Amino acid sequence: MVAQSASLGAPRAACAGGFSATPTIAFRLPCVLMKTLLIVYHSMTGGTLQMAQAAARGARGEPSVRISLRNAGEAGAADLLEASGYIFASPENLAAMSGRMKDFFDRTYYAALDRLNGRPYATLICAGSDGHSAALQIERIATGWRLKAIAAPLIICMHAQTPEEILRSKQVPEPALRQCEELGATLAAGLELGVF
Ligand SMILES: Cc1cc2nc3c(=O)[nH]c(=O)nc-3n(C[C@H](O)[C@H](O)[C@H](O)COP(=O)(O)O)c2cc1C
Repeated sequence: MVAQSASLGAPRAACAGGFSATPTIAFRLPCVLMKTLLIVYHSMTGGTLQMAQAAARGARGEPSVRISLRNAGEAGAADLLEASGYIFASPENLAAMSGRMKDFFDRTYYAALDRLNGRPYATLICAGSDGHSAALQIERIATGWRLKAIAAPLIICMHAQTPEEILRSKQVPEPALRQCEELGATLAAGLELGVF
């Protein structure tokens, strides 16, 4: 099993109230002026976590966007409100998003309703054999929030069918992780350019 929290280890992920430590731009933006990409994930056997981390890696190529990678159990409405765009990353369990992801949406839905309108989002799903039901559930919630999908849900199928395969720690293949990185990079670049 995989620890339920992850840290990017990047200085600008922890710069709230200060200045970006990003060394690649000459004029550093105060963090209050930086747009934030919030990535909310849950993972039991590690696959979704790797996908979320890959998306964060891709997004970090955009130095003026702050990345907030948050476990669903710890994320709340304040995280949603302060962010300008979102990636929701969930396993598909029992033909649904995972319970921890559902709990995140249950806790935040009404606090954020009508306050996120028009912001961009993308969905990552880690599945054993399908993934579409979880993606559809997240799409419905995002529609309620009037978010704007920037891409079709990215569903990675791990081909885990037996109980042993399903409960085993996952290693998401590199090509799939690159897709997640590209999605993160696209969302961060679009946020920075204001094209969504
Ligand atoms: C209780 C349970 C139910 C599952 N149900 C489904 C399912 O309905 N459809 C599917 O495609 N995969 C299903 N899976 C497989 C998971 O999606 C797969 O193991 C995936 O890697 C989980 O993501 P994680 O590694 O981030 O935990 C299920 C796994 C568990 C533990």
